Amino acid sequence: MRKNIVAGNWKMNTTLQEGVKLAEEVNAAVNAADAKCDVIICVPFTHLAPINGVISGKLGLGAENCADHKSGAYTGEVSAPMVASTGAKYVILGHSERRQYYGENAEILRAKVALALENGLTPIFCIGEVLSEREAGKHFDVVKSQIEDGLFNLSAEDFSKLILAYEPVWAIGTGKTATADQAEEIHAFIRSVIAGKYGQEVADNTSILYGGSCKPTNAAELFAKPDVDGGLIGGASLKCADFMGIVNAF
Ligand code: 13P
Repeated sequence: MRKNIVAGNWKMNTTLQEGVKLAEEVNAAVNAADAKCDVIICVPFTHLAPINGVISGKLGLGAENCADHKSGAYTGEVSAPMVASTGAKYVILGHSERRQYYGENAEILRAKVALALENGLTPIFCIGEVLSEREAGKHFDVVKSQIEDGLFNLSAEDFSKLILAYEPVWAIGTGKTATADQAEEIHAFIRSVIAGKYGQEVADNTSILYGGSCKPTNAAELFAKPDVDGGLIGGASLKCADFMGIVNAF
């Protein structure tokens, strides 16, 4: 059966020293807690190797992105093999901030997903609509297209390795969370889209996380929904106590 997962996305926050300190704190807390879910922190590239050296046991490590090429003349890019060589096991791909500010489209994302999988990384693949799309009632179509265009080239075996994250863009960093019912409605829809392509078993085994202003105060209600398998946490992952409050919501 699918796993429950709480993953932090630190985004472009913390210096290396601050990040290592936060990772040490989270590592101690996660390993002391009887967590009922997998816990992952996704951190800036510069922090990956040093943080891999200070975490252990139940805490997993991921990157926030990787390049759409394997190696070569791509100044400033960081490849999937480089990420894997730090010890990281996960990589966030298709985050709305990457789609919006860095022009990442389905073609680029397909290349990134393929390279991540080839290098043994588990993609945490993000989808989600913007406010105008939700207000126009197009959110189901938008997420369906994002899944079809970004992922449906994969074999069932490869698709089964992914984690999905539904992140309504209007809820990211805004303090405005989707209600638990809104999250459940679209998570169940996402699962049905997966089932339509890969069958019910693959769909039932796919973890679908919710992201967007998830906090200790609303996590339990969201995670109680049958198709919400955890959270992808931005702001609240930058404070150990808040992040653990979400982890302990399971
Ligand atoms: P916030 O939790 O800060 O809204 O960010 C969500 C997010 O984008 C996680 O990837």
